[in-house]
Amino acid sequence: MEFDGSQALIGKGAQADVFRYKGYAYKVYKNTYPAEWIAFEKEQQKAVNQAGLCPIRYYDTDDAHIIKMDLIEGEELEKKVLNGYIEGFGILADAFRKVHAAPIDGIKMPPLIATAGMGLSEEEQNMILPIIDRLSQKYPSCICHLDMHFLNIMLPNGAMEAANAKSGEKTFPEYVIIDWMNSRIAPAVFDYARTYVIFDEFSQEGLAIYKQVIADDIKALGISDEDFQDALTVCAVIRNREKN
Ligand SMILES: Nc1ncnc2c1ncn2[C@@H]1O[C@H](COP(=O)(O)OP(=O)(O)O)[C@@H](O)[C@H]1O
Ligand SMILES: [Mg+2]
Repeated sequence: MEFDGSQALIGKGAQADVFRYKGYAYKVYKNTYPAEWIAFEKEQQKAVNQAGLCPIRYYDTDDAHIIKMDLIEGEELEKKVLNGYIEGFGILADAFRKVHAAPIDGIKMPPLIATAGMGLSEEEQNMILPIIDRLSQKYPSCICHLDMHFLNIMLPNGAMEAANAKSGEKTFPEYVIIDWMNSRIAPAVFDYARTYVIFDEFSQEGLAIYKQVIADDIKALGISDEDFQDALTVCAVIRNREKN
C-alpha cells in the first residue's frame, strides 16, 4: 500500500511509526522487523478484542509490515500526566484491575513461562524460569498486559469532560489500553513488576507515586514483598534483553 501524502504521524514506538490516514490509524513497522511478530501482534489483538479489553480492531493491508487499525481520536495519558494530571496514576491502577479481572477461558494467548526464556542466556534462564514457575503455582493467572504505562493508555477526545460532567461519585474517564504485543497469561504480580521496572528507568518521582497507588491492590492479591522482589528480578532481566 502507498499513502497519498495526506497521512500524519501521530505516534512513534521503538519498532514502528503510527500514522493517521483516511479515518484509520496505520502502524508501519521497520522493514527489518520480523513479519511473524506482526502476525503474532494481530493474533494478540484478536484475543483482547474477544476478552473485551480493547475495542480497537486490526486489519490486514497488502503490506505485511503495515497494520491498519481503528483510530483513537485523542491523546496518550502521558501528555495529561506531564501536564499535571496526577489522577492519571489512578487510571493506571484501574487499567491493571480491569485487565486482570478479564476471564481467560478460551483466550488464545501464550503463558509467560512459554516465551520468557527467548533470547536469554542459559544463566539468565536459570535465574528467571524457576521464579515464573514458582509464582505461577502460587498465584492465580490472568491476562497481564506487560507493557502498561502512560504511552499505552489513550484518552479519547471528550473523555475527561464526560467524566467530569458525571456528578457525585468519582469516575475515571473512558480510556483505551493499546499495544498488547507483550501480553501473556501469568500472575498479576508480573504486570505490576514490569511497570515498576519501567518507572524505575524513567522517573523516580513517578515510581514513588506508582508504588503508592498499587499498594492496596498488591496487598489484596496477597503478594508478599519477597515474591514482588522475585518478579522484579524476572522483569529486569527481560527488560534488559529488549534493550540489547
Ligand atoms: N489505534 C490508534 N489510534 C491512535 N493512535 C494510536 C493507535 N495505536 C497507536 N497509536 C499511537 O502510536 C503510539 C505507538 O503505538 P504502539 O502500538 O504503542 O506502538 P509501540 O509498540 O511501538 O509502542 C501510541 O503510543 C499512540 O500514541
Ligand atoms: Mg506502545
